[in-house]
Amino acid sequence: MKKLKFKNGDQLDAIGLGTWKSEKGEVTQAVKTALNNGYKHIDCAAVYDNEAEVGEAFEEVFGEGEIKREDIWITSKLWNNAHKKEDVIPALKKTLKDLKLDYLDLYLIHWPVAFKPEVGFPEKAEDYLSLEEAPLIETWNEMLKAKEQGLVKHIGVSNFSIPKLKELMKDTDHAPEMNQVELHPYLQQNELLEFCSKNGINVTAYSPLGSGDRPDQMKAENEPSLLEIPTITKIAKKHGATPGQILIKWSEQRGTAVIPKSTNEGRIKENLASAGYQLDEEDMKAIADLDKHFRFVTGKFFETEGNSYDNIYDD
Ligand code: A2P
Repeated sequence: MKKLKFKNGDQLDAIGLGTWKSEKGEVTQAVKTALNNGYKHIDCAAVYDNEAEVGEAFEEVFGEGEIKREDIWITSKLWNNAHKKEDVIPALKKTLKDLKLDYLDLYLIHWPVAFKPEVGFPEKAEDYLSLEEAPLIETWNEMLKAKEQGLVKHIGVSNFSIPKLKELMKDTDHAPEMNQVELHPYLQQNELLEFCSKNGINVTAYSPLGSGDRPDQMKAENEPSLLEIPTITKIAKKHGATPGQILIKWSEQRGTAVIPKSTNEGRIKENLASAGYQLDEEDMKAIADLDKHFRFVTGKFFETEGNSYDNIYDD
């Protein structure tokens, strides 16, 4: 399995377990299955509304003593309603309490979008804070404080475009260490990867399998299925792998981290086993040709008439 390297020498296993959309009643078992089968990287977020249940798995597995906390990489994310400087560290502490941990390996600003503190999910323009009211640099400086306080080992961002990264980086000496973005053969993000690579920012691929279990209101009509792309199924057949494994391997082989979500024991194991395949040049070229800048997570749910966020990806 490839590892992503950080400036302080820390290393992250490229393939991790995603927990977005994992049901409360299933996620504890899923995380236990993952940890007991060799996953060393678990991706969480406050907004997934299941951190307390994920935390039960950590408590149980680390309590048993065989798997050590320090050998596992745990990421979480600051929700959009806690961007104000006084809210960042309290939100992180709530996540730590839910996850039953005393530090995170990585904490990310989930979106470059701010809501008022009392708003979980926005419905009207008044529910947002503009970037002038909640400047990202102020949120970032609190993330840095959290790192100084030892509450997190690394800090980064998620869903940041190149312009948003540049904007943040011009005001700080501490660039994000990670950018977690949607990334798969239909959205290959070559320019963003190049920018991140040049600036020492690691990248994590979310929705690597197309997130087919998103709620219907987040889906476009006639959405494509990554798992059924003929090029992918053909390459899968050639290697005796599943289409999911080819999608995961492709991300890993490109040097990004990748966090397929599953709550199914067989697929949790199958996804980690992707690391054991090797795509050849012909496979990589065929997949490179699939790029069509298609987003499953359009971000449209943050576009409310009159708010400041009409082009969050700067596409
Ligand atoms: P399940 O949790 O039942 O395994 P993404 O990671 O892109 O968000 O995709 C998650 C979706 O893909 C879930 O519906 C998950 O279902 C499904 N899934 C996870 N692993 C695989 C796999 N190896 N093959 C097919 N579908 C998978």
